[in-house]
Amino acid sequence: MSPVVQLESVTKEYGSGASGARAVADVSLSVAEGEFVSVMGPRGCGKSTLLNLIAGLEVPTSGRVLVCGEDLSRLSDKALSDLRLRYLGFIFQSFNLLPRLTVEQNVSWRLGLIGVSGRPARDRTAAVLERMGVPPSTWARYPSELSGGEQQRVAAARALATEPKLLLADEPTGNLDSASGRTMLDLLRSLNLQRRMSVVMATHDSFAGTYGHRTIRLKDGRIVREAGEMERSPAAEGQVLPFRRRGE
Ligand SMILES: Nc1ncnc2c1ncn2[C@@H]1O[C@H](COP(=O)(O)OP(=O)(O)O)[C@@H](O)[C@H]1O
Ligand SMILES: [Mg+2]
Repeated sequence: MSPVVQLESVTKEYGSGASGARAVADVSLSVAEGEFVSVMGPRGCGKSTLLNLIAGLEVPTSGRVLVCGEDLSRLSDKALSDLRLRYLGFIFQSFNLLPRLTVEQNVSWRLGLIGVSGRPARDRTAAVLERMGVPPSTWARYPSELSGGEQQRVAAARALATEPKLLLADEPTGNLDSASGRTMLDLLRSLNLQRRMSVVMATHDSFAGTYGHRTIRLKDGRIVREAGEMERSPAAEGQVLPFRRRGE
């Protein structure tokens, strides 16, 4: 079976010449179905750019990006947005909630795009908002009336509502206190285990980075280290146990 994500020597440069920045530099990466990969590194190392490249929101300067076996550069705009809708969920670092839609509408609108409407959409929206711990008292409010943490949870609910095969999560705990952050991470892990949803999660939080099967470290856009479960720090012991493929 082809990997869910395959990056082949992908480079992304912004601008050119002396003012140019190489946000992602010659990255090759393969994510298997059902795999949970954490991408770590300091601010500015290229994590968000990497996720945007996988989602087809950015076009590589060189190299190829394949998602579910499809070379993104060969898809029309329509085919690319269909693929995004059918297979991908994206929790954006800055949420990207639609400001003129209520919390509930932000989620149900995306369901409408995949043909789920009416009662089934309302039920699914309520279920996913509840699962994400978004209080019902906020469902009729607009994103600007919510705290950062609430917006982050709504963004996650919207991304997960369509039951994506691949979730791209950009700093999904960035606006949450540590208890809610942990709840979010546990939820992502359980969806990964129960539904075999593949996850690529960008984070600069070392605790969040212990979730997942594999951690990739970026520095100045390059992969500097890849750690599998056997190489994890002792601090991560116990947190990753249910996840380990023992004997490897
Ligand atoms: N749209 C853009 N235009 C120009 N430079 C960008 C743009 N997006 C990101 N960069 C630059 O690319 C580098 C990586 O950024 P980013 O992917 O956001 O890193 P991270 O998510 O790890 O903080 C940074 O130097 C950033 O300034
Ligand atoms: Mg970022």
